[in-house]
Amino acid sequence: MKWWQNAVVYQVYPRSFQDSNGDGIGDIPGITSRLDYLEELGIDAIWLSPVYASPNDDNGYDISDYQAIHPEFGTMEDMDELIAEGEKRGIRIVMDLVVNHTSDEHNWFVEARKSKDNAYRDYYIWRDPVDGQAPNDLTSAFNGSAWTFDEDSGQYYLHLFSRKQPDLNWENERMRQDVYKMMNFWLDKGVGGFRLDVIDLIGKLPDEKLTANGPKLHDYLKEMHEHTLKGRDVMTVGETWSATPDSAKLYSDPARNELSMVFQFEHMMLDEQPGKTKWDLKELDLVEWKQALSKWQVAFKEDGWNSLFWNNHDTPRVVSRWGNDDTYRIESAKCFAILLHLMKGTPYIYQGEEIGMTNRIITSIDEVDDIESRNMYHERLEQGYSKEEILHAINVKGRDNARTPVQWDSSEHAGFTTGKPWLAVQPNYTSINVEQALSDKESVFHTYKQLIQLRKDHPAIVWGDYILLLPDNPNVFAYERQYQGEKWVVLASISDEKQKVSLDDMPTEYEVMVTNYNRSAVDWNSVDLNPYEAFAVRAGEIN
Ligand code: GLC
Ligand code: CA
Repeated sequence: MKWWQNAVVYQVYPRSFQDSNGDGIGDIPGITSRLDYLEELGIDAIWLSPVYASPNDDNGYDISDYQAIHPEFGTMEDMDELIAEGEKRGIRIVMDLVVNHTSDEHNWFVEARKSKDNAYRDYYIWRDPVDGQAPNDLTSAFNGSAWTFDEDSGQYYLHLFSRKQPDLNWENERMRQDVYKMMNFWLDKGVGGFRLDVIDLIGKLPDEKLTANGPKLHDYLKEMHEHTLKGRDVMTVGETWSATPDSAKLYSDPARNELSMVFQFEHMMLDEQPGKTKWDLKELDLVEWKQALSKWQVAFKEDGWNSLFWNNHDTPRVVSRWGNDDTYRIESAKCFAILLHLMKGTPYIYQGEEIGMTNRIITSIDEVDDIESRNMYHERLEQGYSKEEILHAINVKGRDNARTPVQWDSSEHAGFTTGKPWLAVQPNYTSINVEQALSDKESVFHTYKQLIQLRKDHPAIVWGDYILLLPDNPNVFAYERQYQGEKWVVLASISDEKQKVSLDDMPTEYEVMVTNYNRSAVDWNSVDLNPYEAFAVRAGEIN
């Protein structure tokens, strides 16, 4: 077994986690000061969103120096201290590796753009104009063309994200070796591994308008493994919006020496109109959603590993998205926790999720920081959408939803900073905050803590087979885990209304292991479920 197979990972978005010096921006000493809290929660690793030098066009996902810390976040000494203090508490630091692109202010690009014969030119992807226009109609994820014209050299460069995020050319061997050198710099410092940003894009063939899953993608990952990860006890998780169970096996089959696991997004995209963008909303079909998640639960036997998550810095918060962050905030936050953390795979918690933090609501574009939402706003206004429609979509799906500062206590700015926070703290911090959660045994925090401990204590949660129950029920998500004569049954009602279900072949003797309504017994023939009720029982024998 690998350490990351029964681990729980906690994502820190550093800008919004904890400020230590009153400039309103979260920083590395701030994270170190909260390690005791994370140890109390019980997590094994932190996935740290980028803290490298960056002009911050995309909040650090545009890196200008991979081996320097952004002064806003601290110094390399601060980083070394975070790694060392983490280690003392059994918490590894997993770095965010953004190597699909750099910042246009990275030295490689500064050099590359100097002239066509510069030694770094080929580190990026350049094309001549076609009929005085961009080479083709590839678009950037942040709106507009993926090609920007460089006046000086008369060529276009490719950027699948903002124009300040030029794509690296993975065909270039020297570039790849430089990336591996940089990875080894971090690995030698003792980091716990990497989360690989949009890694499914590195094998792109821009002339064929093929972005994800290019023909050499897996060759690059194997080569990367050979030069960096091989022989090291670290975890890697690729961000792969395009992943299917079959491609996820290619990445994560241990025999192939690529990655430990990937983030798959199938269940995250089902409340969007197919073929359109994330902003084109549609009601979630729970049956379809259960099937998507279950497909991933049964996909891997010996040949791969799954990751489990509801939200991150790019997506809305689960309690607001699929739960009820008003009347049933606590119940629904715990419900989604129970549902996810008893599945098979490595669970990820996004900062603030463990206390049931909610999406923020905006009434004007002036309150928005995120480049993706701002670009979309202006583009859609031009296309004739109404302001109201666009703001609604941002309130539902915008990335700033989950980027508001962590709510630590009920003091001004929620204990996040003594200065002015870079993004406003949510007004509900006076009641939803860590201090409150720690002191209240019934809080969302304590359910997360309990679930993390259950995973440590019960191999059945790590290894057990998964079986979906009640597949056609449109309100209740139910599944079983089976492992060496042990059986767990998990029920979660994703509904504001009471529900009733009945289940066959259920154990008569069992122990209730976790519940969000103080349940102590179940009548399997007629299970009455309260709004967002979730619980799990464990039985010794499989009937
Ligand atoms: C990933 C990151 C996102 C970033 C993008 C470009 O999707 O999670 O925050 O904007 O890649 O780096
Ligand atoms: Ca700071």
